[in-house]
Amino acid sequence: MDDHGIEGHGGYERAVGIRASSGAAAGERAVPGGLLPAGVADRFATAGTGTAYLDTASYGLPPRAAHEAALRAERDRAVGRLSMEDMGAALTESRAAFARLLGLTPDRVAAGSHTSQFVGLVAASLPDGAEVVACDRDFTSLLFPLLAQQERGVRVRLVPLEELAAAVRPSTDLVAVSAVQSADGALAPLAELVAAAAANGARTLVDATQAAGWLPLPADRIDLLVCSAFKWLLAPRGTCFLAGTPEALADLPPLAAGWYAGAEIWDSIYGGPLRLAEDARRFDLPPVWASWAGQVPALELLEEVGIEAIHRHNLALAARFRSGLGLGPGESAIVSVALPPGSADRLARDGVIASERAGRVRFCFHLSTTASDVDRAVEAVTALRAGERAGERASRDRGRSTSVDNT
Ligand SMILES: Cc1ncc(COP(=O)(O)O)c(C=O)c1O
Repeated sequence: MDDHGIEGHGGYERAVGIRASSGAAAGERAVPGGLLPAGVADRFATAGTGTAYLDTASYGLPPRAAHEAALRAERDRAVGRLSMEDMGAALTESRAAFARLLGLTPDRVAAGSHTSQFVGLVAASLPDGAEVVACDRDFTSLLFPLLAQQERGVRVRLVPLEELAAAVRPSTDLVAVSAVQSADGALAPLAELVAAAAANGARTLVDATQAAGWLPLPADRIDLLVCSAFKWLLAPRGTCFLAGTPEALADLPPLAAGWYAGAEIWDSIYGGPLRLAEDARRFDLPPVWASWAGQVPALELLEEVGIEAIHRHNLALAARFRSGLGLGPGESAIVSVALPPGSADRLARDGVIASERAGRVRFCFHLSTTASDVDRAVEAVTALRAGERAGERASRDRGRSTSVDNT
């Protein structure tokens, strides 16, 4: 296997005050396939199929064990043997594992289904006339619940990612941003945002959906962090976490609380009075059974490998891809490439799965990705570009001969 250098990515870690990854650090040379324990890629159903799956930003591949756990729950349901207690235990285990991954305690973590649902609680907690600063191209599950509050006087100022920290001022109540942008993989300047929010008495709301699972995050310094888990946390659709400081959580209304948010779950299924859990569990939604069953083994694998190792692996593969295409350095596991419309479909015909977003094509590198997946993608994109250039030359030549004919 080729030896490819890893780009300097210690800068991000230093900026957010997280311990720099050990081992293959900035500038060191490393073999991408050698950055993970042996056989990790084989734990995914894509291994040996000839498909280079590079679309985790759309949805993450389940490790086989996670896929099997979700299917088992469905099989049990079909024959009347589903244990609701076991499904509840899966949610509880997942909450604890997510808390460990982020260096938090489980009492600060609520479990639900979707980012927009949890952001809706944050949005509803804002006083009339509150000021929110957010990124103008952020994902709408973060933006829409906030924008929906404008009719009661909440002001949402949308600014470019690079200007976000400078846009925070004493009148700002909330700074909302995705840690990694869905559209192109850009990283938010979290350290600057946390500092700007603290200096101006504002709270931070960070959507970690495209970040948790590969990017070390300063979660203990973020007021509210929301994360849908069906991407980099490799879950089926329908699991999501909200982590917050006790102070920030205290200000949220438990608008969607039902029996599952009760202090004693099975004593909360009928009648009043309201008796919600005191910790973050009071924001829980009832578990989407098979999804939580599938979440547990996925988080086990992520914990087993560890975020620092995944970070190194993903960035090493992203660097291999970038250098193969002659692109400059980057610090994200998502690489966005300018390619003509329709390119994702053409790449898919070559077995390279990527997605078109914001007029470009988005390639993602995660646990299931191998160096040979990257090389296939480089080859396929290079062929696609060569085809484009040949097409352009041919149409130029046709144009020239037509104008000659016309003279
Ligand atoms: C940054 C970000 N947040 C959230 C989501 C998902 O939000 P929801 O759980 O509301 O579908 C996505 C992608 O679908 C995303 O890219």
